[in-house]
Amino acid sequence: MSKKPAVLVTGASTGIGAVYAERFARRGHDLVLVARNAERLDALATRLRSETGVDVSVVPADLTNERDLAGIAQRLREDSRIGVLINNAGTSIPRGFLQQKADDISKLIALNVTAVTRLAHAAAARFAETGEGAIINVASVVGLAPEMSATVYGATKAFVLFLSQGLNVELSAKGVYVQAVLPAATRTEIWDHAGVDVNTLAGVMEVDDLVDAALVGFGRRELVTIPPLPDVAQWASFDAARQAMLPNFAQSQPATRYRSAA
Ligand SMILES: NC(=O)c1ccc[n+]([C@@H]2O[C@H](COP(=O)([O-])OP(=O)(O)OC[C@H]3O[C@@H](n4cnc5c(N)ncnc54)[C@H](OP(=O)(O)O)[C@@H]3O)[C@@H](O)[C@H]2O)c1
Repeated sequence: MSKKPAVLVTGASTGIGAVYAERFARRGHDLVLVARNAERLDALATRLRSETGVDVSVVPADLTNERDLAGIAQRLREDSRIGVLINNAGTSIPRGFLQQKADDISKLIALNVTAVTRLAHAAAARFAETGEGAIINVASVVGLAPEMSATVYGATKAFVLFLSQGLNVELSAKGVYVQAVLPAATRTEIWDHAGVDVNTLAGVMEVDDLVDAALVGFGRRELVTIPPLPDVAQWASFDAARQAMLPNFAQSQPATRYRSAA
């Protein structure tokens, strides 16, 4: 029997990433766990080794740090045992756009956009060459909802959704499966970083339920998985409306409504 691919999980020290790590360990996959907090990663690795018998490597890294990011990218390029990348590490910052600090915005983009893209790029190169592999990108429903006023966070998550859709177009024929997972409010520490008391919110999903649902979508090879959305036809019609516009973009003249100043 061929060995199951190892899974590299970013943001594995807590929250959604830690549950993904546990679920894949229970399915018999070796793991590479990445986050900044080495103590937490070690504790999870020790527990999962003893409970499941899988091999677990711990690689502490700050993915906003270029050297650390390059190291994880290199591991993805060179370690042929890794067949699944879970691009999960991400954060949020408090307050509205006008109150946010420029440095915090840059760090948010470095983690939620740059690191996700660079790690997908490193994994995709090898996966496409071997004709197999999977990339799970954790986005958010906030990326579909500018009305939620988490503007930069939402923009980073809209990027992750688009990145996943584009990678699917480029890579699916090469045997690489890409999934975008769009959670809504889920009970994790991210809410502390966003400066929001999660207990004040309605409709918060427990993290185990979120990951188990996302893994059902993974098993079905869905491109976009939105665990809390009751009626998947709503997503399908939204996506169909977008696709219906595409043939209309190739025009040598501006649309009639722009041909007069009035
Ligand atoms: N919870 C929600 O309501 C929700 C909703 C939609 C989408 N999401 C998305 O789900 C993903 C996971 O979030 P979560 O809710 O599980 O949040 P979380 O509990 O705050 O966990 C975030 C993880 O990312 C790691 N991380 C943060 N900064 C990092 C850095 N600079 N370098 C490396 N790792 C870093 C953290 O570990 P260290 O601190 O040890 O580095 C932690 O393991 C994120 O992409 C988030 O945007 C969450």
